[in-house]
Amino acid sequence: MFRLITGRPGPSGFGSASTAEQVTHDIDGSNLTAIVTGGASGIGLETARVLAMRNVHVIIAARNMEAANKAKQCILNDNKNARVDVEKLDLSSIRSVKTFADNFKALDLPLNILINNAGIMFCPFQLSEDGVEMQFATNHLGHFYLTNLLLDKMKETAKSSGIEGRIVNLSSVAHICPYKGGIRFQKINQKNSYQNKLAYAQSKLANILHANELSRRLQVIN
Ligand SMILES: NC(=O)c1ccc[n+]([C@@H]2O[C@H](COP(=O)([O-])OP(=O)(O)OC[C@H]3O[C@@H](n4cnc5c(N)ncnc54)[C@H](OP(=O)(O)O)[C@@H]3O)[C@@H](O)[C@H]2O)c1
Repeated sequence: MFRLITGRPGPSGFGSASTAEQVTHDIDGSNLTAIVTGGASGIGLETARVLAMRNVHVIIAARNMEAANKAKQCILNDNKNARVDVEKLDLSSIRSVKTFADNFKALDLPLNILINNAGIMFCPFQLSEDGVEMQFATNHLGHFYLTNLLLDKMKETAKSSGIEGRIVNLSSVAHICPYKGGIRFQKINQKNSYQNKLAYAQSKLANILHANELSRRLQVIN
C-alpha cells in the first residue's frame, strides 16, 4: 500500500508512478497480438495506444463501436503504421462474449496477450440480461467466460510461437474490502442487501482469485 501511494518502484524497477511507455520502452511487439477489453477509453485506451506504439497488433474489444472507432482513429493519427482493429463485445452478456470469441477465432489470428480491463464501478443495483448482478456480470463473469473461450487459442499460440502468453486481469485495491466473508456466492443477485461499493470490491476480488487460479493451473500445464 505504501508503494502504491508513493509510487516507489518494486523489485521490477517499476511502480504505480510508472507509465505504460516507460514500462514497455525498448520492447518490439511486432510478433504479438493482444486483445484489450474496454480499450475505447480510460486505462484500456492508454494500454491499446502504447501496445500499438510497440508494434503489437491490438484488438480493441468494446461495447460502444462509435467510441472504439474513434479510439482506433486517434491511435492511427499518432502512428499511421499501428495495427488496430475493433470488435464488438458487451461483457455483461454471455451471448455477446460468445459471439466475440467466435468472431475473433474466425479471424484466425494468434493471441499472445489478453487484457481483461473493462469495468464498471459503484452502479445502482441492476441485473444483466442473464439475470446476474451487473458489476459481478461485467467485471468478473464476462471476463471469466471470455478467458475460458480464448484459452485454447492462447495455448496454441504459445506453443507455435515459443512465446509465453499473458492474461492480465485489472483488479483494484478495493478488492480488500468486499462484503463480510468475501464473495457472497449465495447472494450475488440479492437486491435488498446490495451495496454498490462492496459489490464492486467483490467483483474485483473475483478478478484476483481468477488470476491466481489461472496462474496455478497454467503453470501445472506448462
Ligand atoms: N481508474 C482507476 O483509478 C482504477 C482503479 C482501480 C482499478 N481500476 C480498474 O481498471 C479498469 C479500467 O478502469 P478505467 O478507470 O479505465 O475505467 P473507465 O474509464 O470507466 O473505462 C472502462 C471501460 O470499460 C468499458 N466497459 C464497461 N462496461 C462494459 C461492458 N459491459 N462491455 C464492454 N466494455 C465495457 C467502458 O466502455 P463504455 O464506454 O461503453 O462504458 C470503458 O471503455 C477497470 O476494471 C477498473 O475497475 C481503475
